[in-house]
Amino acid sequence: MYRHTKITGTKPEFYRRLAATLDELLAGEPDQLANLCNAAALLGCQLERINWVGFYLCRDGQLMLGPFWGLPACTRIALGSGVCGQAAAQRQTVIVPDVALFPGHIACDSASRSEIVVPVLGADGELFGVLDVDSPDLDRFDEADAQGLAAVAAVLARRLGI
Ligand code: SME
Repeated sequence: MYRHTKITGTKPEFYRRLAATLDELLAGEPDQLANLCNAAALLGCQLERINWVGFYLCRDGQLMLGPFWGLPACTRIALGSGVCGQAAAQRQTVIVPDVALFPGHIACDSASRSEIVVPVLGADGELFGVLDVDSPDLDRFDEADAQGLAAVAAVLARRLGI
């Protein structure tokens, strides 16, 4: 049972603790949808200075909105479109310090000023989807966030059994 207390520490410590909390939260539950829902909720209540966090999942050659925390968002994103579509097409994390300067950025929440998108890959390297985090602050995400969120995505992938 998850007991909510705010995770603290330097970014590396914070993400280590966040990944461990996620691992524990998802343990013993095989249902992918339930686990994605709890992952989005955990990230939403633990990450600071964010206004949206959630998943876009690979469906029929495009990205489809999955479980998230935040305002309602666009449902379908073509591979290569927006930040999510570019991260998915490249299978690489994309950090956008200022969304206004990113050509093709898809604005779902007008409060978003910066963004990071991390691919969620299966054990064989296949793309399952992406983890998208938006902030109302400019330049919110750096390399420590990229590494920490990649570790979170790896825990998630293992618990999803992908
Ligand atoms: N900004 C994203 C779209 C998803 S929303 O931020 C929730 C993008 O450009 O891909």
